[in-house]
Amino acid sequence: MNPKDSNHRSRSVFERRRAAVFERLGAGVMVLPAAPIQYRSRDTEIPYRPDSELYYVTGATEPGTVAVLVGGTSPSFQLFVRDRDSEAELWSGPRLGAVGAAERFGADETHPVSELAFRVPQLLKTADRIHFRLGRGDEVESLVRNALVQARARGPRTGTGPRGLTDPGEILDELRLRKDAHEIQCLRAAAALSIEGHLAGVAELKAGAGEWRVEASVNAAFRRGGGTGPGYGTIVGSGPNACVLHYVANSRVMEKGDLVLLDAGAELGMYQGDVTRTYPVDGVFSGRQRAVYEVVERARAAAVEAVAPGASLAEIHGSAVRVVVEGLVSMGVLKGDLEELVATDAHRPWFPHQTSHWLGLDVHDPGDCARDGSPRLLEPGMTFTVEPGLYFPADSEEGAAAFAGIGVRVEDDVVVTEDGHDNLTRALPTAPDDIEALVRSLR
Ligand code: GLY
Ligand code: MN
Ligand code: MN
Repeated sequence: MNPKDSNHRSRSVFERRRAAVFERLGAGVMVLPAAPIQYRSRDTEIPYRPDSELYYVTGATEPGTVAVLVGGTSPSFQLFVRDRDSEAELWSGPRLGAVGAAERFGADETHPVSELAFRVPQLLKTADRIHFRLGRGDEVESLVRNALVQARARGPRTGTGPRGLTDPGEILDELRLRKDAHEIQCLRAAAALSIEGHLAGVAELKAGAGEWRVEASVNAAFRRGGGTGPGYGTIVGSGPNACVLHYVANSRVMEKGDLVLLDAGAELGMYQGDVTRTYPVDGVFSGRQRAVYEVVERARAAAVEAVAPGASLAEIHGSAVRVVVEGLVSMGVLKGDLEELVATDAHRPWFPHQTSHWLGLDVHDPGDCARDGSPRLLEPGMTFTVEPGLYFPADSEEGAAAFAGIGVRVEDDVVVTEDGHDNLTRALPTAPDDIEALVRSLR
């Protein structure tokens, strides 16, 4: 199986996922529409990104598709797809059509999307609950709304019909949290391509060159390796821009002595990498840069080490925070009792984000980090980033003034295994000496 080609994934992967959805759906019906086509500059289509939920459950990637999963004693998977249309296909490429989609996706019934308004009300009528995400404001949403209105009016007489609406994430987020072997293979490939992108970016590090050259090289490597491109806007933050968490302008010229924070991940076969390293542009950290870098790197290592079944993202964050607070004390940025500083989140002015987020089909993959007031315990297959950082903006004062303008983040992608974890991005160095050596060897 080639993870680069989402169209050739075995149908059984999606059949297994649908079976898991049906198990949890009871007599409900789930409606999953495709992502809308989006435009820029008046009428130019933005490259299409299929909806992650629809893809997860069906493998379908064509705009206009709607999947309806009808639960109950004999569950049924119904797929609505765009009609074949030779004129439209001349402009935007071939469509599967109902016959092609039936072969490809193994639905129990496949219909043209033009029959939605006729068929979907019938399907919804039998549901006790509709699983659908509000907010689209389109035809599918109005069909769902009408089904609820009708059931409210007629339900008391017939004793049937949907009385409630549930977000599909209630079922799907939970399933998506635990990656199967196939998904881990995809994430591993996306992580490997993200590393290729970083290496291509490092080769462009040079005082006097624009951040955009690094971005161009990273993104080109993602495409060259068969990826869709970057899964999120590549961040090339040199000098003070490293302190801007979601900096994407990449418009500054790198200067001698800068650190360059590169946060770049490839999207490959719908799955995401999310990798950050912070490189000294000249291949040498200054004393102060190294002091900051070493704290962040120790925090990353401690947090990755804490990843195991039964731990939680809160604990992993706690491991990173403790190291960061110790570091801030030794750097003279914080003063006071270590335990008290940890307990009062004294790190927050300089480490203002969490250590981890789930990673999968989405860069910030869905799923609750806590349930019923308790942190979620990690299980094999759960995949997330570990990304502590320290940022000292240019106007930093008092003990932090010595580090003003320095921003460092180091980010790995980690999957929980039966007996610990697997760091999918460990092939890209993190130790400060190795980072220096890497920059010097490539640029
Ligand atoms: N690149 C976005 C993030 O690290 O969450
Ligand atoms: Mn991240
Ligand atoms: Mn990132």
